[in-house]
Amino acid sequence: MYVKKIYLKNYRNIENLELELKNGVNIFYGKNAQGKTNLLESIYIGATGRSHRTHKDKELINFNKNEAHIRLEVQKDAIFDKIDIHLKTDSKKGIAINNIHIKKLGELFGYLNVVIFSPEDLNLIKQGPQERRKFIDMELCQINSIYYYNLSQYYKVLKQRNSLLKKIATNQSLKDTLFVWDNQLIDFGSKIISIREDFIKKINKISKKIHSDITENKEDLEIKYKPSVLIEEFKEKLEKNIDKDILYKTTSYGPHKDDMLFFINNINARDFGSQGQQRTASLSTKLAEIQLIEEERAVLPVLLLDDVLSELDKDRQKFLIKNIKKLQVIITCTGVEDVLKNLDEECNIFNVSDGKVT
Ligand SMILES: Nc1ncnc2c1ncn2[C@@H]1O[C@H](COP(=O)(O)OP(=O)(O)OP(=O)(O)O)[C@@H](O)[C@H]1O
Ligand SMILES: [Mg+2]
Repeated sequence: MYVKKIYLKNYRNIENLELELKNGVNIFYGKNAQGKTNLLESIYIGATGRSHRTHKDKELINFNKNEAHIRLEVQKDAIFDKIDIHLKTDSKKGIAINNIHIKKLGELFGYLNVVIFSPEDLNLIKQGPQERRKFIDMELCQINSIYYYNLSQYYKVLKQRNSLLKKIATNQSLKDTLFVWDNQLIDFGSKIISIREDFIKKINKISKKIHSDITENKEDLEIKYKPSVLIEEFKEKLEKNIDKDILYKTTSYGPHKDDMLFFINNINARDFGSQGQQRTASLSTKLAEIQLIEEERAVLPVLLLDDVLSELDKDRQKFLIKNIKKLQVIITCTGVEDVLKNLDEECNIFNVSDGKVT
């Protein structure tokens, strides 16, 4: 699949853009703060409905405007889809697919699959668990249509439960109503746990192979799911921790506390891995993400590389480029020569300057 055309209006510092992209490598180069990442971000939003940089949709609209538009035309074999996102300062965003307005964000997933890779992703292993959950969620939303539903319901129930915990602190009689939320939390949470478990098994299998290739069989990578709670213990954990939860006004167990662990040659890479090992393992995991989308959805995702090539050493750069040959790749960089050195195919090259693309 590939993004054939992109239209932006009043999107961040990009006032007006209409651009045709190539099903291959597209490079956007330019000085700092010109709009390169903004452009990648808009494609990511077209795929997921959300920015990878902010939760606040309003930030995406140009400072001096009240609304912004993103339109992407996506070609997938013989299928052509048009994704329209209309952002407004005074109301929720509207999304239309092929001119039909969708009511739920979940309906957007699958029209455009993307994998985004930025320098921060190389720190996947070092970062906090929240970043790793985000990695899991963004991938699963794109490959499993019921995941997003369960996830959004789970977070809704969690919010209600936490708000009830706060009320119980001043009104003990409400404690008896907590079970209503607990049952729903267990219901949605268990589905999330079991989907994540299956996902991490698959990601582990693929990234193990990739990691072994990059390190010339020197390192064995093992990714393990670390659920906050097991499905069969969920109810008991919630019940046992009621008083603690009331005291801290927050829910101490559930998928919102999940994590994943990375082992290199049986040693926990987060605690003991060298920086290079951690970064290579992150690269293997990101590349596994692409392959998993291909296996599960039978499509090749669009790869968004935000200034990441310059972060990798020569061997890693070569490995990455060799492994993304079949995909549409959208690359941002400051120096175009460094990127071109590694590529042996024809690419589209654009300059980005002050929100204008030429
Ligand atoms: N809502 C907005 N309205 C107008 N300008 C904005 C808005 N949001 C961000 N910008 C501006 O967009 C500019 C470009 O940001 P972007 O992150 O795309 O830069 P970049 O080209 O990727 O730079 P770098 O090479 O440093 O990563 C920034 O200077 C920022 O101030
Ligand atoms: Mg940038």
